[in-house]
Amino acid sequence: MGVFSDSSGHEQVVFCEHRPSGLRAIIALHSTALGPGLGGTRFYPYPTEEDALADVLRLSRAMSYKNACAGLDHGGGKAVIIGDPLTDKTEALLRAYGRFVQSLNGRYYTAADVGTYVADMDVISRECDFVTGRSPAEGGAGDSAVLTAYGVFQGMRAAAEHVWGSPSLAGRRVGIAGVGKVGHHLVGHLLDDGATVVVADVSDVAVQRVQSSYDGVDSVEVAQLLDEPMDIYSPCALHDALTDETVPRLRAAIVCGAANNQLAHDGIEKLLGDRGVLYAPDFVVNAGGVIQVGDEVRGYSEERARAKTALIFDTTKAVLATAASAGITPGTAAEQVAEHRMADVGQLRSLHLR
Ligand SMILES: NC(=O)c1ccc[n+]([C@@H]2O[C@H](COP(=O)([O-])OP(=O)(O)OC[C@H]3O[C@@H](n4cnc5c(N)ncnc54)[C@H](O)[C@@H]3O)[C@@H](O)[C@H]2O)c1
Repeated sequence: MGVFSDSSGHEQVVFCEHRPSGLRAIIALHSTALGPGLGGTRFYPYPTEEDALADVLRLSRAMSYKNACAGLDHGGGKAVIIGDPLTDKTEALLRAYGRFVQSLNGRYYTAADVGTYVADMDVISRECDFVTGRSPAEGGAGDSAVLTAYGVFQGMRAAAEHVWGSPSLAGRRVGIAGVGKVGHHLVGHLLDDGATVVVADVSDVAVQRVQSSYDGVDSVEVAQLLDEPMDIYSPCALHDALTDETVPRLRAAIVCGAANNQLAHDGIEKLLGDRGVLYAPDFVVNAGGVIQVGDEVRGYSEERARAKTALIFDTTKAVLATAASAGITPGTAAEQVAEHRMADVGQLRSLHLR
């Protein structure tokens, strides 16, 4: 990939290497039009450097759109650390990474993502002032998955109202792919609302954890989930859940989940629309976590962050209504909301303030 040939217009991409600790990381800032970039650090055993770069570029762009739609004063940033978090994560590596984030002097705030946890943010914060998702003991907001799951639930309720005329999920069957940090909490919200849940995860431990926390949760093999009868399909694992192969198998009327970048390519949303499946855009419904950690920058108030996350219901409803009336896909409608806000609010910077 040519360094400047990617068409998505990233502002800055930083390659970080520290051989003594084995750190190899890439930090991507897509846009700081609305404020410093904010997005998590993914620790993942990418097969190649190109895969890592492609992922961080895609994820940081999605953060710009997510933060803009969520009404945050933050731009889009994301980082990836190349390696296996189970074997390669050490204090020295995390602290080395923290020093690179610090060197950006506040242009990028980091947080947890796949493969990183609250405890890791505490370690990184020993070298760096621009870390969110730290433990409450360190002044942080804790695990961002809590409000991410709450926000996805609100997005689902909005999608249900759009499709079935009522936001209640009582009696609906929801299939969740991936019951890690977010999927686990989501199961609780759905059961509380009277839905039934079927889960699938490549990790038996994750499935067992859910089934020991909640009664009456069905589980199937990952490969079988799409063939299950369900009203809502909720991708909560990794990217590209919706592909040319998986969409034709879908039996759900709604897709709404936490995973970032659920659509394998731009044409997938049309495929979903053609099959009468409503897609609630991932970057709209999964913003609860970034709302939570963004609040930490101001001094965390759970009440304020939860209230702001509840607004994902209204944002999702508005996006779905706009898409329906304009004859465009929900993803396009949501991108337009984000782009307008980045352009309008971003222009305020032209008014100089000391
Ligand atoms: N944690 C957050 O606050 C947050 C915020 C926004 C978006 N997200 C996104 O939501 C998704 C889940 O995040 P998380 O924090 O729960 O991560 P996690 O790593 O805790 O959980 C992911 C789960 O998915 C499982 N999994 C992996 N591949 C799978 C597959 N092919 N099929 C089924 N299960 C599979 C894993 O075993 C794991 O249990 C990620 O895409 C993440 O980027 C997370």
